[in-house]
Amino acid sequence: MRRINFMLGVAALSILLFNTGCGWEPPDRPVGSDGWLDGDMHKKFDTVADQLRGFDAAMVEVGYRYQELYWAGMDENWPYAAYQAEKIRTAMELGFVRRPGREDSAQSFLNDAMPAVERAIQMGELEEFEAAVRVVTASCNTCHALEDVGFMRVEIPDMRPSPIRAPAE
Ligand code: HEC
Repeated sequence: MRRINFMLGVAALSILLFNTGCGWEPPDRPVGSDGWLDGDMHKKFDTVADQLRGFDAAMVEVGYRYQELYWAGMDENWPYAAYQAEKIRTAMELGFVRRPGREDSAQSFLNDAMPAVERAIQMGELEEFEAAVRVVTASCNTCHALEDVGFMRVEIPDMRPSPIRAPAE
């Protein structure tokens, strides 16, 4: 019995060594098109982190989604409004992972302003939505002031940038 166990052990070990031996690649092997992602593992992760950007990338996305949220509500296209509200939260939360220092200034936005707009969407109430979206807008600007970017003033959109419209009845 002992001998069989020993033999099994040797077999498992050789399979392990064989597999890792064949599949082994140096961690500093350049990857990506034309090997643009190069260097050792730390340098590669730093490059990827730079490529993911900071809070600005989150905000470009939030800016777009805020406009879509507004027009979705105006169209009473509630599923699309709910979708955009959810994605605004996702974009912000991922932004806070990259820049945790920003999160404190967003508390009233996340915990008061967004829930009000989410409730209006859930109820499908246009008037409530319009009121809540004004609160959201003010809350965007409160955070901008707190984060020293008060010169970026958010206003209710007057233009529709995207081709998405409510489906024809
Ligand atoms: C954390 C608080 C915070 C909240 C809440 C917030 N912002 Fe921002 N926003 C910022 C900061 C900080 C910047 C500047 C980003 C930087 O310097 O990296 C910014 C920048 C922007 C930009 C310019 C992005 C660019 O680089 O072109 C837009 C657009 C924007 N915000 C829209 C909004 C809208 C719309 C809302 C509300 C739905 C909102 N923001 C809510 C903090 C916030």
